[in-house]
Amino acid sequence: MMMVLDRLELRPLSPIAGAEVIGLDLRRPLDAATREAVYAGFVRHHVLAFRDQDLSKDEQVAFTEQFGTLERHVARNRGPGDHPLVHVVSNLGPDGEPSGKVASQKWHTDKSFRELPSLATILHARIMPPQGGDTCFANMILAYEALDAADKAELGKVGVIHSWELSCRKAGRQATPEEIADAPPMTHPLVRTQPETGRKSLFMGEHASHLDDRPFAEGRARLAELEAHATQERFIYRHRWRPGDVLMWDNRCLLHRADANFDAALHKRVLHRTCLRGAAPA
Ligand code: OGA
Ligand code: MN
Repeated sequence: MMMVLDRLELRPLSPIAGAEVIGLDLRRPLDAATREAVYAGFVRHHVLAFRDQDLSKDEQVAFTEQFGTLERHVARNRGPGDHPLVHVVSNLGPDGEPSGKVASQKWHTDKSFRELPSLATILHARIMPPQGGDTCFANMILAYEALDAADKAELGKVGVIHSWELSCRKAGRQATPEEIADAPPMTHPLVRTQPETGRKSLFMGEHASHLDDRPFAEGRARLAELEAHATQERFIYRHRWRPGDVLMWDNRCLLHRADANFDAALHKRVLHRTCLRGAAPA
């Protein structure tokens, strides 16, 4: 791993997660060794920040596809005829002006309700507010490792049900039958293992509904307790965006959330998003 990583200039952003990648132009295809080095850096640091990029949507898709299979979006999130594979994350209303609303402020991991949840999300800052509009990451490996032995024994064999329908209900709307058919409730191990390193992490967040070994309400309460533990400041890396950043993060071992720490009714915040499909959590 060291030799592979040596090919790439990486500057850690925090001890919790995150590293800047220096000197790559992502518009160009990566050679095999560089691609491996990027992936090794991703596994080690969980969040990679490529600075000063300027990718078209097609270029972002091409960059993403070098690391695997692009994930489709939930029916509702498909782009409005614009680009089918790139989801636009923004605070803009139908009139193209700042709406005051910022999505994804709850701790979550992308597409955890899928049978094959996301390996990585790639988010490219296109228009950012003058300051703020950060994205926060909570390191679920550190959070798991900080649990005591009794908690680890309790949680080690538990299944957690992730539900898109529940997430919709919490957001104040009923999922359509089409959406539910597309994304039915899915059980995953609450404690999953990074295949590359053998380290364990907690797999939960906004889409996590309940636990398969206890009554619904008890499971929800336990998940809330675990989330409070896992999102303490000591497990968080806060990414302060620069325009042009491309962020690539590991959905297997992080929770993330948007921080609306800017005037979202005044300033535009627009990012382009692609997701890579992962393997079944184990
Ligand atoms: C996402 C997401 C957070 C943000 O794109 O999946 O959660 O800061 N974004 O916009
Ligand atoms: Mn997200």
